[in-house]
Amino acid sequence: MKIPYLLLVAAFSAAGTHAAPFDKGDPKAGKALLEKACMSCHINMFGGDGSKIYTRADRKVKTPQQLAARISGCNANTGAGWFPDDELNVAAYLNQQYYKFK
Ligand code: HEC
Repeated sequence: MKIPYLLLVAAFSAAGTHAAPFDKGDPKAGKALLEKACMSCHINMFGGDGSKIYTRADRKVKTPQQLAARISGCNANTGAGWFPDDELNVAAYLNQQYYKFK
């Protein structure tokens, strides 16, 4: 039987193509989490909806890894109590909306 083998090869090559970072996350869920736990502080600093913190010229986050690390750190600092899935959803939202890492 050749077919299962071919399917396997196809599955592996699909996994090998470059997927967008955080594409397993749910941006909608991430937005809700972010609004609940994170934004008041950013708004105090930057006004408006606080999103300038992600778009300012000298922003700190420059790679998907740094974004994930920052979200994880802020989760711990603020005691938001997010699970890894929640962090992924927030990363998906921030990336889709502001950082646009490919
Ligand atoms: C107590 C205030 C406060 C809260 C609450 C807070 N942040 Fe922040 N956040 C900051 C400050 C201050 C900075 C900027 C740090 C800097 O410029 O080095 C920042 C920066 C960031 C950045 C990086 C922006 C850049 O420069 O690219 C991200 C991403 C971020 N916060 C995510 C979150 C998330 C997610 C949460 C909720 C779990 C959160 N923050 C909650 C104060 C806060």
